[in-house]
This record gives sequence, C-alpha cells and structure tokens, in this order.
Amino acid sequence: MGDTYSQIVNSGLGKQVAGTLGLPRPSRLRRYTPGGTLIDGPVLVGGHGDAPLAARVRTLLGERGVAVAEAPAADAPSEETLSAVVADLSQVQSPEDLESLRALVGPALKRLGPSSRVVIIGAAPEQATGAAQRAARRALKGITRSIGKEMRAGGTANLVLVADGAIDNADAAVEFLLSGRSAYVSGQVVRVGAGHPSPAADPARPLAGKVAVVTGAARGIGAAIAEVLSRDGATVVCVDIPAAGDALAGVANKVGGTALQADVTAADAGSRILEHCRSRHGGLDIVVHNAGITRDKLLANTDADRWATVVDVNLGSILRMNETLLSDEGIREGGHMVLVSSIAGIAGNRGQANYAASKAGVIGLVDALAADEGVCARGITVNAVAPGFIETEMTGKIPLATREMGRRVNSLAQGGLPVDVAETIAWLSQDANAGVTGNVIRVCGQSLLGA
Ligand SMILES: NC(=O)c1ccc[n+]([C@@H]2O[C@H](COP(=O)([O-])OP(=O)(O)OC[C@H]3O[C@@H](n4cnc5c(N)ncnc54)[C@H](O)[C@@H]3O)[C@@H](O)[C@H]2O)c1
Repeated sequence: MGDTYSQIVNSGLGKQVAGTLGLPRPSRLRRYTPGGTLIDGPVLVGGHGDAPLAARVRTLLGERGVAVAEAPAADAPSEETLSAVVADLSQVQSPEDLESLRALVGPALKRLGPSSRVVIIGAAPEQATGAAQRAARRALKGITRSIGKEMRAGGTANLVLVADGAIDNADAAVEFLLSGRSAYVSGQVVRVGAGHPSPAADPARPLAGKVAVVTGAARGIGAAIAEVLSRDGATVVCVDIPAAGDALAGVANKVGGTALQADVTAADAGSRILEHCRSRHGGLDIVVHNAGITRDKLLANTDADRWATVVDVNLGSILRMNETLLSDEGIREGGHMVLVSSIAGIAGNRGQANYAASKAGVIGLVDALAADEGVCARGITVNAVAPGFIETEMTGKIPLATREMGRRVNSLAQGGLPVDVAETIAWLSQDANAGVTGNVIRVCGQSLLGA
C-alpha cells in the first residue's frame, strides 16, 4: 500500500536524481489536525466589483485568526509568502471582467507556499441573466481547473458556485477548501444553494450529538470514515458483513461506537440499521453508503452473476435501504446522506463496466434524491464523493505498473489516503453545509481520468 516512489524521490540522493532527470516529486500534503490553525500564513482576498463574498471571507478568516493580505499595487510587487488566494468573481458580467481574476490570482501564484490553496468564488451560471454573463460565469470552471494543473508543491485550486440568495451558505465550503481537510481535493466545483445552515457550536467537534451510520466500515475507506466522523463528535454505527465481524468490532471499539453485522444486500438491511440506531442511540442523523465491491472482467467475459453482484451491492442495496432510511422515521430532519461513487463511474474503466455502471448509477441516485420533494422538505442533504486512486487494500492488489499509473496521473502526482475521502464526507455531513446538496465531489487530486 505504501508509495515507495514518493519515499525514494523525496530522500537525499533520490531528490537529486529526480531533479536531474526531471521526474515528478510528489509533495507531502498538508492534512487537517484537530485544534490546528485553518491555514498557516496570510490569505490574499479580492475579487471583481463589490465582491460581496470576499467581505464574508475576510470576516471568516478574522474569526479563525488568519491574516488577510492586501493585493500589492501593480508597480510594487510583494515578496510576502501567501498560503492562499480567494477570489470572488460572483459579480462578473462579461468575459472582459475575468481580467480581475487574472490580475489578482496570476501574480499571487508565484508567492504561494507549499500545500497552498486557490479558491475561486462565482455565481451559478444557469441563473445568469444574459449570454455574456453566463459565459463569464461558466469560464470560471475552465480557469480553476487550469490553475489546479499549474499549482506546485501540493497546492490545490477549487471553485465554489453560489446560487442566488445563498450568499450566507458558502462559508463552510470556503473553509473546507482552505483547510487541510481538502488535501486531495482539486479542480472541483462545489455548488452552494438554499438551505438553513447552522454553524457548529464547537468548530473542533462539528458533528457533536449526531448519530452516523457507515456501511463497509470494517476496513479501508469505511474504517477511516468511521474514525473521522467519531473524531468530529458523532456516535458511529459501523456496519459490515458477518465475515468481517472481528475487524468490524475492532473499528467500532476504536471509535467508541457500536458494530452491526449486516449484509447491505439483505432485504431487511435498512430496517435493521434503523432499528439499531433508534434503540441503541435514540435516532439517526447521518448515513454514509460506503460498502462496495469490484468483480473486474472485460464486459465480453462478464457473466450475469458477476454483473448482478456488483450492481446490487454498490447500487441496488442503497435504493432498498433508502426506502427505510429516508422514510419519515428514518434520518432526522436536517440530516445528511453521503454516497461513495468513484471516478470509474465518471470516466469509465476498462474491465469495470459493472463497477462503472453501479458508481455512475450512484450519481444518478444523488441527482434524484437531491431533487426529491420529500427529502428537500425535510432539509436532508444528499451528496456523493467520487474517490480517485486511494491507497487501500483494494488498490494495493492492482498490478504494479497499472498501480503506478493510477497514482501519478493527477495534479498532485500521488495517490490519496482513506482519510482524504473521510474528511470530505465528514465535511458534507456538517449542518453548516445545509446549502450543499446534489453535489459530486471528486477526491482524486484532479485526476486526468474523466476530467
Ligand atoms: N480504494 C479506492 O481507490 C476507491 C476508489 C474509488 C471508490 N472506492 C469506493 O470506496 C468504497 C470503499 O472502498 P475500499 O477501497 O475501502 O474497499 P475495501 O474492499 O477495502 O472495503 C469495502 C468494505 O465493504 C464491505 N462490504 C462489501 N460488501 C458488503 C456487503 N454486501 N454488506 C456490507 N458490507 C460489505 C467489505 O467487507 C469491506 O469491509 C467502495 O464503495 C469503493 O467502491 C474506492
């Protein structure tokens, strides 16, 4: 599972050899530590026109004890190292206005330190009032993705698109993208809409008092999700198949939660999960549908069993469980559901037609649920994360050459860790994020696949 290449090219001699040969040298990413600062060093904040969101970001940074840097005059270049640039382009009216972005962000890129951040804020293109405004708003996506590919030393660039009237709801997204929680998230668009976010009373434990279920929690990404949700204050119910019972009990003990042995494909899986949550913990607030399997074969060689098993574990089971988990007795009002998709569901993958079908179907399910009247009326958010190459037992089994390929074809030139997926899920599970629903966030280091 270890990334030997990264270790070699970052060691004394390896560093020199890599430099001479022009080999990529993946940086150590800045990851979140509870109680740590949001971001080390000053953040340059600016924008176009009134830039109303820039004003909010300045306030947010002030509350978090982060210094705000001012853009130097064009003829007075500053040498001060920046940790991030936040550019509010929500007021752009036409393509000419994009010059404000170039003028602010372009020179600042040279001043960014390691694991820095670029966060662009825009308005929803589909709510534009004319062709020029829509074109300018849509352009931000291309710019952000290009910046992501130009970032150095573990830096990321992401875009937050804010719907009309949702200006108050964007803080949690900006904070996530600046923080170490988003270490492996780059080139992404977070769409913020209406909702009633409530900021956490204790920012270090944003999930305090919540009851969360994680399926497939015995190992890999699921175990990391259970750990991070628990670290953030949730009581976690860990679900996995009976054959993984020992490992499951280990994870549940470690996170101070409870274990429930259940096959998610069983007809009564949803009702057993809900009954467990209600009787043992008094209710249910967060569901993470993470359990998943692969049975890879070229489609020409895939039999009906291999097909049906993958589609049912990864997708059919979620539909069945949701009949109970999203019923009036299920997830409480204002709760959150996160489904684990995959970039294979976006890009497709040779030998994974069944897996890609199931993971693309997961995205369709998120689209449907986020638009569902009943789900919306109860204020429940539904989002997906789509991991790219994550260092787990699953990817450890991939043949070496393919594995190396998978690891490197992204802007950060390395695989992600299970904790990176878990941090994104924990963030999507916060009440401060009530305006974020129907999103698919790739945790892939801006993988070239399907981009
Ligand atoms: N590892 C990656 O790079 C990667 C990339 C993209 C998406 N994903 C997705 O992330 C999720 C977790 O992946 P992982 O790498 O941790 O896999 P993993 O194989 O290490 O863990 C999956 C867990 O799900 C459990 N599980 C399988 N079938 C189940 C069932 N019927 N009922 C209950 N539990 C069941 C397994 O016992 C296991 O504990 C999966 O949905 C996977 O498709 C992983």
